Amino acid sequence: MEKFRVSGPTKLAGEVSISGAKNAALPIFCASILTSETVEISNVPDLKDVSTMFSLLRKLGVKVELDKKNKQCEIRANSVHSIEAPYELVKTMRASILVLGPLLAKYGEAKVSLPGGCAIGQRPVDQHIKGLRLMGAKIKLENGYITAKAKKLFGAKITSDVISVTGTENLMMAACLAEGKTVLENSAEEPEIVDLANFLRSMGAEISGDGSNKIEIFGKKKLNGACHTIIFDRIEAGTFFCAVAACGGDILLSGVNKEAMGMTLEKLRECGGKIIHDQSGIRIKFFKRPNSVSFQTSSFPGFATDMQAQFMAVNAVAKGTSIIKESIFENRFMHVQEMLRLGAKISVRGNTAVVTGVDVLKGAGVMATDLRASAGLVIAAMAAHGQSMIDRIYHLDRGYEGMDKKLNLLGASVDRVKG
Ligand code: UD1
Repeated sequence: MEKFRVSGPTKLAGEVSISGAKNAALPIFCASILTSETVEISNVPDLKDVSTMFSLLRKLGVKVELDKKNKQCEIRANSVHSIEAPYELVKTMRASILVLGPLLAKYGEAKVSLPGGCAIGQRPVDQHIKGLRLMGAKIKLENGYITAKAKKLFGAKITSDVISVTGTENLMMAACLAEGKTVLENSAEEPEIVDLANFLRSMGAEISGDGSNKIEIFGKKKLNGACHTIIFDRIEAGTFFCAVAACGGDILLSGVNKEAMGMTLEKLRECGGKIIHDQSGIRIKFFKRPNSVSFQTSSFPGFATDMQAQFMAVNAVAKGTSIIKESIFENRFMHVQEMLRLGAKISVRGNTAVVTGVDVLKGAGVMATDLRASAGLVIAAMAAHGQSMIDRIYHLDRGYEGMDKKLNLLGASVDRVKG
């Protein structure tokens, strides 16, 4: 198993480009199932989750051709011969649930393993199922699988009980081929939903309201092929910005814009960061120790749960005490135990963490537990004095393209070593 050997403290300076968004790419690949024509997708990030999704699509019989060098792929779903997403794949990547809506809408049936629990919490899919049932699907849960059937799906008014990103995406995709109008209420508003809607529109779908909490879709008999460029990864960008906040320095991230960054930039300003944005990207400077910032995670445009661990690393070395409330996932503080090993002062009660910034963190051996927790640990390790070894970095490779290479370009010392 590979590890990161991080030597700190490190100041960051220079420019890196941000990759395509994982959370936009995965649903867009699944949406390709909705047409038998070829779709061409650009700005494809080189990530483990992307290769897992391609393995799943190929297992279904979808043709996927990847041009890694140019970050482009062609997908053609004209010869699907299986409608099953097996447990082995779904358990490694929950986003596999995103084939449910498209398979059901296009082929009238789908069998997708229940994702089950994962490290950061229970993460049920009841809202996906509720919505598809309201559209006329017959759904059974047996032997750990969701089996869905529908000769035809019908538009429906669906009010989600909780705001779910992949839930909204699954229902949006299914509604594109349903008969009549679907209204999704209490839907997610993330930029990745808007990117999916843009892709679906380029395939001929009729969708409005994406980016708000009410989305309307008029179903079509068929969708056509399309070309699309995936938006930048706002979580990758936010992670690099937090690295500068914790370590100090001056970096420019190209290919990003402030609109999609949500609360992340506001909080970085509160930390004392100087932020300049223009057409080339966003530049951020931190020349003093950051101020601590308190926040509560919520769905977009609120503070992203996917940025919580990275801001905790900033708070661990910031001036003052902060309160962090995690309200999306019930078990998303696993990085706390590891940050304590680096000398952080953090106490947790229920879903609230109290972080008192320390003058100095000290390098230590730590273990990555999930994707974003790992990112928080890399930031804390770069700010710490001495050497840290971060184990289980395969979590990072799921969602960050060449994180070590990009950080080293900025002057960090992050070596990938065999375990
Ligand atoms: C997506 C993102 C993930 C991010 C999360 C929250 C992708 C591929 N992943 O995950 O990076 O951390 O949004 O921003 O886009 N819930 C239910 N029932 C459901 C669905 C969800 O109770 O049917 C609950 C979940 O347990 C959680 C909350 O709703 O508490 C939000 O989850 P959701 O938005 O669905 O997360 P994902 O789409 O899995």
